Amino acid sequence: MDRIRIVGGRNLNGTIPISGAKNATLPLMIASLLTEQTLILDNVPRLADVALLERILGNHGVDIMVSGKRSGETADHGQTLHISASRIVDTTAPYELVSKMRASFWVLAPLVARMGEARVSMPGGCAIGTRPVDLLIMAIAQLGAEIEIESGYVVARAPHGLRGAEIVFPKVTVGGTHTAMMAASLARGTTVIENAAREPEVADVADCLNKMGARISGAGSKQIVIEGVAKLDGARHAVLPDRIETGTYAMATAMAGGDVLLQNARPELLQAALDVLVRTGVTVTPTNQGIRIARNGVSHGLAPVDVTTAPFPEFPTDLQAQLMALMTRARGTSHITETIFENRFMHVGELTRLGARIHLDGERATIEGVPQLKGAPVMATDLRASVSLVIAALAAEGETIVNRVYHLDRGFERLEEKLGRCGAAIERLSG
Ligand code: UD1
Repeated sequence: MDRIRIVGGRNLNGTIPISGAKNATLPLMIASLLTEQTLILDNVPRLADVALLERILGNHGVDIMVSGKRSGETADHGQTLHISASRIVDTTAPYELVSKMRASFWVLAPLVARMGEARVSMPGGCAIGTRPVDLLIMAIAQLGAEIEIESGYVVARAPHGLRGAEIVFPKVTVGGTHTAMMAASLARGTTVIENAAREPEVADVADCLNKMGARISGAGSKQIVIEGVAKLDGARHAVLPDRIETGTYAMATAMAGGDVLLQNARPELLQAALDVLVRTGVTVTPTNQGIRIARNGVSHGLAPVDVTTAPFPEFPTDLQAQLMALMTRARGTSHITETIFENRFMHVGELTRLGARIHLDGERATIEGVPQLKGAPVMATDLRASVSLVIAALAAEGETIVNRVYHLDRGFERLEEKLGRCGAAIERLSG
């Protein structure tokens, strides 16, 4: 099992190219199931989760061709996928695959919308608390599908097609909104989604669906209106930049000190997080190439902050662990409240091993800044938690070994190379 070795104490200086967003790529790939034609996706990141979804779609009979690099391109350019679901051979998504990645449950929507039937395993437990799918099922049922739960599988049937409806989400859900939007695109009549997720990835998927011939308006706002169409066509779409990767490297730079250009990053995708960084004393400068993050004069340290995670446009839960790592060395006491997922504090124990002082009280963490962290062996527990350990290690004295880095590979492309090029002492130890 690969590990990552980091020796802390070096500044970061240079350029980090930001990849396409994982959380847009996955639903975009799933949207290919809605059409017999080829969907071409550009700027797709090279991630374990993308490779896993390729396998899952392959199981339904989807052909995926990955374009080789064109002349002049480097690994910094995303890959291009040509995805063709011309013939769906199987409408079942089995437990062995769905249990490895929750987002694969979302295939339920396009399969039932196009094929009139889908059988998708319940995703099962997850390292970050109970993550139910009741609202996703509710949305499909609202659109007229009959739902049954049979031996751990959700079976959705709509032999005569789905019909438009009003879907009111009692809670903001990204997966629920993607699911409802995809299914409603092929439903008869009009669908109105109320209390929709406003995450930029939802708007990106709606853009792509519209290029495929869907009629979606309002994506990115609380109300999305979809006029169903009889069929969708192929299209070409470039995935938007990853705001979580952007925020992660911004916090890494803030932690290590230095001056880094986050190339291709778009500030409007993570304004709340950038505002928090400014409050800590970091210099954030949008440029026409991306976002520049600088922190010099390390001596005075970062200011502590009080932050609560919430749906977009507020501070994202997917940057909570990284911010906590940063605040372990603030000059004073910070508070971080997690309102999206329960149990999303598994990084706390590991950060403590590096010398952090963190107290947990339900969904609220109190972080007392310490002058220095000390390297130690630590364990990656989930995707965002593991990258928070890397951030802490960049500023810890001595060597940190991060074990179980397969979690990192799910969502961060060539992390050690991107940080190494900016001067971090970081290497992957294989085996
Ligand atoms: C997506 C993101 C994930 C991010 C999360 C919140 C992807 C692939 N994943 O996950 O990185 O952390 O949004 O921004 O895009 N809920 C229910 N019932 C449901 C569905 C959700 O109660 O049927 C609850 C969840 O438990 C959670 C909240 O709604 O408390 C938000 O979850 P949701 O937005 O659905 O997260 P995901 O789409 O799974």
